[in-house]
Amino acid sequence: MSKTAILEFDGNKYEFPVIVGSENEAAIDIDKLRALTGAITLDPGYKNSGSCKSDITFLDGEEGILRYRGYAIEDLAEKGNFLEISYLVIFGELPTKTQLTQFETDIRKYTLVNEEMKNIIDGFPKTAHPMGVLSALTSALTAFNPKVVNVENDAEMYEAICKTMGKFLVIATWTYRKMMGYPLNYYDNTIGYVENFMQLMFKLPTGPYASNPVVVDALDKLFILHADHEQNCSTSTVRIVGSSHAGLFASISAGVSALWGPLHGGANQAVLEMLEAIQKDGGDSAKYMAKAKDKDDPFRLMGFGHRVYKNFDPRARIIKKAADEVLKNLGVDDPILRIAKELEEAALVDDYFVSRKLYPNVDFYSGIIYRALGIPTDMFTVMFAIGRLPGWIAQWKEMRINKEPIGRPRQIYTGYPLRDFVSMDKR
Ligand code: SDX
Repeated sequence: MSKTAILEFDGNKYEFPVIVGSENEAAIDIDKLRALTGAITLDPGYKNSGSCKSDITFLDGEEGILRYRGYAIEDLAEKGNFLEISYLVIFGELPTKTQLTQFETDIRKYTLVNEEMKNIIDGFPKTAHPMGVLSALTSALTAFNPKVVNVENDAEMYEAICKTMGKFLVIATWTYRKMMGYPLNYYDNTIGYVENFMQLMFKLPTGPYASNPVVVDALDKLFILHADHEQNCSTSTVRIVGSSHAGLFASISAGVSALWGPLHGGANQAVLEMLEAIQKDGGDSAKYMAKAKDKDDPFRLMGFGHRVYKNFDPRARIIKKAADEVLKNLGVDDPILRIAKELEEAALVDDYFVSRKLYPNVDFYSGIIYRALGIPTDMFTVMFAIGRLPGWIAQWKEMRINKEPIGRPRQIYTGYPLRDFVSMDKR
């Protein structure tokens, strides 16, 4: 691998250092490009641009590889639990039993959300989309936890992390309770993190609640699979907002908003709506494959394609297997699973998809499991946010510890050259 890159521009030659990552990825360091050449690079969507160096997640889009802190996603999903893998993603090592117990104990210190937060959620209509409510509530947490804004040392950073892990789960489930008109539940410090998700979501004051261990196990795995994914749209948002030294809650609130989009985390909801529309329209998956390939038709096969994976998303493989197991365990025979499998089988041999390397991504099957677990479609992207929380925290922490500069991309101006002001009577 060459140690430098030579750029010939405007009759001059310039040499830039090449940075090589621990998995032999190469980057041309253009830190001095504008100072030396007067030119910048242009890369809409940043397909070819790295924003940072990171030790957290490695993914190889061509090979369909995903690792958190060097551990294969297949191993982590199979052998770990969500809080354990959250610790790994955030702090960099698999925790000992003592460390994991302490982490859970410290999170439990902050699982009570200020009662006044209920006044904020009361202000929303029941019809409000849960992602909009979640983004607002997450930002509002700053008002009740001002110390989370300026984390100046390890102790303050750790407290902010535990507060975020403890409170975000509660307010995420409050968005569902609001939508259903149910009273808001409290975190129960005597049961586990994912068990708490289930009771926060579904426990009613009219009777006892016991979560189904099959469901808890499936959700635990799904949250692990969503925990981090390097510099995706929402994580890059969390980093750039945090780079201005906005607090952790404000940065994650921005990440929730970015994740909401149907091209990103909102795709899991869009996949279910697409499958239900196909089913309602007679279940003719071939008709919708044709629509997805028709340049004049804005319809896209949601849950297919990826900015980085040009191979099967490894998470999709694991989720597809889990979907089969969960539906069998729960005795659910969901006709849209058949439609999903027909679309997948057709796309995997169709030249349009194969030539464009469009494979099922993490969102293609997750919605089918969520639906089988009784999670309403509008909540699917909230589920993604709960899973992605440790990744957002880890990336924000890395950016702050590395003292990265405030994010401020340049642009190429294509508007009018200088022109004189025109008085109203002459316009
Ligand atoms: C996530 O970045 C991450 O890591 C994200 C994520 C994470 O964990 O954080 O993995 C989570 O966001 C997964 C992606 C979820 N989104 C969807 O499933 C929405 C449907 N997918 C597409 O919108 C699209 O594939 C994107 C947005 C995901 C990726 O878009 P790209 O890489 O910019 O691809 P493109 O738009 O340049 O498309 C290339 C070609 C085009 O056709 P041509 O112009 O070459 O003829 O592929 C076509 C596109 O029209 N294409 C599709 C398609 N996706 C791309 N055609 C039909 N159906 C699709 N889904």
